[in-house]
Amino acid sequence: MSKLFSPITIRGQHISNRVFVAPMCQYSSSTEDGRCSGWHTVHYGTRAVGGAGLVMLEASAVRPDGRITPWDLGIWNESHVESMGPVVDAIEANGSVPAIQLAHAGRKAGHGRPWEGGHQLDSTNGGWESIAPSPIAFQEDWDVPREMTTEDITQVITDFANSARLAVNAGMKVIELHMAHGYLNCEFLSPLSNQRTDQYGGSLENRVRFPLEVTRAVRNEMPDSMPLLVRVSATEYMENGWDVDECVDFSRMLKEEGVDMIDCSSGGNSSTQTLTPYAGYQVQFSARIRSEANITTGAVGLITEAAQAEKILDDGEADVILLARELLRNPYWPIQAQIELDGAAEWPDQYKRVAELRNHPRRPQR
Ligand SMILES: Cc1cc2nc3c(=O)[nH]c(=O)nc-3n(C[C@H](O)[C@H](O)[C@H](O)COP(=O)(O)O)c2cc1C
Repeated sequence: MSKLFSPITIRGQHISNRVFVAPMCQYSSSTEDGRCSGWHTVHYGTRAVGGAGLVMLEASAVRPDGRITPWDLGIWNESHVESMGPVVDAIEANGSVPAIQLAHAGRKAGHGRPWEGGHQLDSTNGGWESIAPSPIAFQEDWDVPREMTTEDITQVITDFANSARLAVNAGMKVIELHMAHGYLNCEFLSPLSNQRTDQYGGSLENRVRFPLEVTRAVRNEMPDSMPLLVRVSATEYMENGWDVDECVDFSRMLKEEGVDMIDCSSGGNSSTQTLTPYAGYQVQFSARIRSEANITTGAVGLITEAAQAEKILDDGEADVILLARELLRNPYWPIQAQIELDGAAEWPDQYKRVAELRNHPRRPQR
């Protein structure tokens, strides 16, 4: 049996295989309410039908000003819990594990949907003031965010904890904290976006303080048996910026706080980052964090082939594989990858007749 399709237990959670659906914003809530829609039930349910071991819901904002767009999912009140019920059911009924990524977009909040240009919105067209560790815009033509006060910091930590409690009530079995891609937690980690002079800025110890306080508050709301994952940007690809050495140290600290897995991404905190992605370009970060911080890791980024995924696991560079765009193209990738690696896989009962089509290209007799 392949490694990719062998089960893994993270803390108390059994997961039937090591293909995880990476978090992907769907921008499909109705504006203002942040609730799951029918789209979410169909989209996430389909990825469970396709055979992924874990299906992660997209970046879900812990408060309204933490949304990337007004159409983002939110998880700040009971109505969000209620709206997530059908999504959780669709994932679990089809044999997968429901997870959610909790997020605050920081200085990258308040934009239009990508397919409408993704422009920054102002207060006349549904936008809002964004907050960040320091009043530094992500790029020149974007608004300067408001520098967070210590009261803001305390409030956002409380908001993350509240969302974690709601996620548990919604039936999520795994929580991931978004600390990557230039969103709020990531902004605190980087010496380029965080130029605070108080206890939350400056040294590594100070820059990790807010993300670690968020982690602690969230862990406190979770059952002991429930896994907590953190997505990091292992480097921001900038001179004098956050780098892999710091991220290895940070991963060790996260482990101490009860984090079970690091989901290893990169970049997104600077509009001038220099990066040319290639197949599996972020696997190196997973390999380093796994061996040097001695923690379970996930590899993500331009992983599209079954043999490629299997080799990453075989070489000990990661414990699980997260796929994003490939699973948008083809939700049945896990079943097909298992057939490729192991020679056979179970299609859902309703789809079992697809096997006939391999040998009979024309419509078979009933
Ligand atoms: C449509 C879309 C939405 C995304 N939304 C999120 C998100 O909500 N949270 C996150 O951490 N990453 C997000 N990402 C990044 C993916 O999770 C993933 O890290 C990235 O696409 C690289 O993996 P891939 O090459 O398999 O697509 C998104 C990517 C896409 C394509």
